[in-house]
Amino acid sequence: RIRMEKIKRFQDIHVEAARFYLANLLTSKNYGYEYLRKRGLDDKIIKKFGLGYSLDSWNALMEHLTSKGHTKEELIECGLINHKLESNKFYDKFRNRVMFPIFDYRGNVIGFGGRVLDDSMPKYLNSPDTLIFNKRQNLYGLNFARKEIKDRTIVLVEGYMDLISIYQYGIKNVVATLGTALTEQQGMLIKRYADTAIISYDSDEAGIKATLRAIEILSKLGISVKILNLKDSKDPDEFIRKYGLNEFKKAMDTSTHQIKYKIDNLKRSFDIHKDEDRVKFAKEASKIIKELKSAVEIDYYTKYLSNQIDISVESIKREVYGKNYNKL
Ligand code: CTP
Ligand code: MN
Ligand code: MN
Ligand code: MN
Ligand code: MN
Repeated sequence: RIRMEKIKRFQDIHVEAARFYLANLLTSKNYGYEYLRKRGLDDKIIKKFGLGYSLDSWNALMEHLTSKGHTKEELIECGLINHKLESNKFYDKFRNRVMFPIFDYRGNVIGFGGRVLDDSMPKYLNSPDTLIFNKRQNLYGLNFARKEIKDRTIVLVEGYMDLISIYQYGIKNVVATLGTALTEQQGMLIKRYADTAIISYDSDEAGIKATLRAIEILSKLGISVKILNLKDSKDPDEFIRKYGLNEFKKAMDTSTHQIKYKIDNLKRSFDIHKDEDRVKFAKEASKIIKELKSAVEIDYYTKYLSNQIDISVESIKREVYGKNYNKL
């Protein structure tokens, strides 16, 4: 009962903070709005996602919310203000940033992310876990995406801007992990809505590592995973702004099967012009193919591997099937 009331107050605090940030963006003199427009977002999408701006002030939000009867203690518990012990000073956590409200799947505001307007660090600040926010259990954008999912297919991206940008272009069945590591709880949430996930994480090393991890989590849950090829772009936001919606759809249609992605990625760590490396790569890649259950798929990816390293299909299959080979 008491806990429920506290949850209600925290929800109220977040709604009021979101409204405050939004009003700042649209009415105060600031570069936040200009920043979002420069990044290609229009008014409609800014409103849809409730984007805002935290003023370049030490206590604007704190003043606003305490004047509405909320206590500093609860604002601290919500992660919206910090308390500096040495000087016993309270100050807003988010200052001079464009603000992204984080929603739960029902559409309640449960936290915030704030981005700097330049390239200073840290680029993003996020709400900590609180009574109403558990980062590992939430997927950004699911409140919108769940109404847009067709064929039980979902697109998975890293960040706020990736999601909002491709959503504005018309790819609406998209959720973001906000950072790079997909958790098992997030995987289970995806499983409720989708049987196919198209991963479109960044093309940098962190993105590749996170993709490999997400593949393991999602395929264990029985989700079929494909990976979108971003060509020369660093993330899906950059891709869709450079090539447009149709190219993005094409990339979705031709996205790479998880097994092929894993083989291609494995290949990068070998120099297949060297005999030893080629053999090692063949063995390791056979282990990946071994994960497949369908004989047709095994055949297909065996040929794919065989073509790349000039080792016969026959011997790769022996490697894949092991002692079961003779029973075939
Ligand atoms: N992130 C974070 N803290 C950081 C950096 C990133 O929480 N210091 C999270 C954010 O949710 C961010 C996501 O990880 O959206 C992906 O990070 P990154 O690829 O670095 O940022 P982008 O989303 O590409 O941001 P932008 O396009 O605005 O540079
Ligand atoms: Mn209130
Ligand atoms: Mn990234
Ligand atoms: Mn990125
Ligand atoms: Mn980006």
